[in-house]
Amino acid sequence: METTVQTQPTPRVKGWPLVGNTFQFVRDPLGFLRQLQQQYSRVVGLRIANRNLTVTLTPDDAKYILQENNKNYHKSEAYRVLQLFLGNGLLTSEGEFWRRQRRLAQPAFHRQRLALLVDTMNEETRELVGRWQTHDPHLPVDISGEMMKLALAIVTRSLFSSNVKQHIDTLSGPINQIIEFAYEALYDFVRIPLKYPTPRNRRYLRAVDKIEAVIYEMINQRRAEQGSVRHDDLLEMLMEVQDEETGERMTDQQLRDEVTTIFMAGHETTANALSWALYLLAKHPDVVQKLRHEFDRVLGPDGQPTAENLRELTYTMQVIHETMRLYPPAWVFSRKPLTDDVLPGGYALPAGNGVLVSPYLLHRDPKFWEAPDEFNPDNFLPEKVKARPTYAYLPFGAGPRLCIGNNFALMEMQVALVHLVRAFDFRTTRRDVIPPEPGITLRPRGGLRLRLRNAE
Ligand code: HEM
Repeated sequence: METTVQTQPTPRVKGWPLVGNTFQFVRDPLGFLRQLQQQYSRVVGLRIANRNLTVTLTPDDAKYILQENNKNYHKSEAYRVLQLFLGNGLLTSEGEFWRRQRRLAQPAFHRQRLALLVDTMNEETRELVGRWQTHDPHLPVDISGEMMKLALAIVTRSLFSSNVKQHIDTLSGPINQIIEFAYEALYDFVRIPLKYPTPRNRRYLRAVDKIEAVIYEMINQRRAEQGSVRHDDLLEMLMEVQDEETGERMTDQQLRDEVTTIFMAGHETTANALSWALYLLAKHPDVVQKLRHEFDRVLGPDGQPTAENLRELTYTMQVIHETMRLYPPAWVFSRKPLTDDVLPGGYALPAGNGVLVSPYLLHRDPKFWEAPDEFNPDNFLPEKVKARPTYAYLPFGAGPRLCIGNNFALMEMQVALVHLVRAFDFRTTRRDVIPPEPGITLRPRGGLRLRLRNAE
C-alpha cells in the first residue's frame, strides 16, 4: 500500500524578476545566509542563477542528506569547476565508481599508516620555524602564503616521499593559479568554455599541464622500478591496491585523478584552517599559554610530537576544532536529489533542485553554541560535545563522503601548532577583524599577515 507523505511548502525569499536572489547571495554569501538563519527555522528556498535552491538549517536535515538518505544525493553543478581539474577523483566522482575508489584508497589513510607521516610533518614545520627565526620581527609575515607552502610540502612528501623538493617548487605556482581560477569561476555564472583560448583559460590549461607532467613522471618512474624500491608513501599504496573482486589495479588516469585530488583537497583546506588558528591565537594570548602548558606537560620542554603523544594533546585538539567551528574551510556542501524527496521537517525537495548544507551556519547557530561568534575552545570539552547534536559540527562533512583525510589533517595541524606556538608569539598587524572570504574554501580575505616574535 502506498502512503502519501504530507508535505508543506518551502518558504521562499523574495527576489528580483529574472535574477531571483543571485545578487543578494553573491554580494555577501555568508551575511545573507546568516540573515536567513535568523528568519527561518528549518529550510528556505532561493533562486540563484536560474536554479531553485533549498538552504537547510538544521542538524537533522544535514544528517538526512549526508547520511540517512545519502544515496539519493549527488554533488551539485557547483563541483563542476573542480571536476575540470580533478576528473574522476574521490572528491568529484559518484556512484559505483566512487565506492570502488574509496574502498581502494581507504587503507592509505588508516591511522597506523598516517603515523609514518608524523616525521615528515615535524621536519617540514621545523624547517619553517628555522626560517622564521631569522625573520625581521618588525615586518609582518604572509601567514596564508606560508601555510599554503607548508601544507603543500607535507602533502607532496606524503604522496611522493623523498626527493620532491624541486617538485614542490614546480607545483606551487601552477597550483595557486588553478585555485584562483576555481575561485573566480565559482561566482562566474557565465563561464567561457575551456576550448576558447582566453588568457584565463590558457593560463589555467598551462598550469594543469605542468602539474600533470610531474604526476605522470612520478607514476612512470615507479612503473619502471617494478616494485624493486620501497617508498612507503601514498602513491605506492594507491599503485599497489587491488580490487578485491576483479583483482584490477588503478589505471594511470585514475592515479592521476586521485593524486591531483589529494593534492588539492589536502592542502588548501588545511592551510586555511592553520592560518585561522594563528589569527585566533594572535588575539587570544591566554589560549596560547594554555597550549604551551599542555606541550610542556605532554611532550616535555623539547619533546617532539609522535603519533602516540598527539592523542594526549587534547586541549590542542579543542583549539583546532574551535577554529574550524568558526572558520570551517568547507563552509558549504551543495547537493542535488536524484529523485523527489521529502526532508525531515516535511518540506518537499523536487529532483534536480539544489540543496545546501552549511557547516558555517550550523557552527554558529545559537541553539547549539553559547556566544556563537566568540572563540572559546571549551566548546569542545567532552561534556559539551556530548550534549550537542553530532551534526551541529561537521567540518569534514559526514556520512560515506566524509573527508578521507580528516585524521591526516588533524595530525598535521597538531604538529604544526606545537612547533609554531612553542617558537613564536603572533600578533595581528591591525586591530580590525579579518573577514572570511567564502570561495572554494573559507580563506582570510586579502590574506593573513601577522607579526611574530621569538617566544621567551
Ligand atoms: C582541515 C582540513 C580539511 C578539511 C576541513 C576537509 C574537508 C573535507 C570535506 C568537508 C569533505 C567532504 C566534501 C563533501 O561532502 O562535499 C572532504 C572530502 C575529501 N577530502 Fe578533505 N578536508 C581536509 C583535509 C584533507 C586532507 C589533508 C586530505 C588528503 C590528504 C583530504 C582529502 C579529501 C578527499 C580525497 C575527499 C573526498 C572523499 C570522498 O568523497 O570519498 N582532505 N574534505
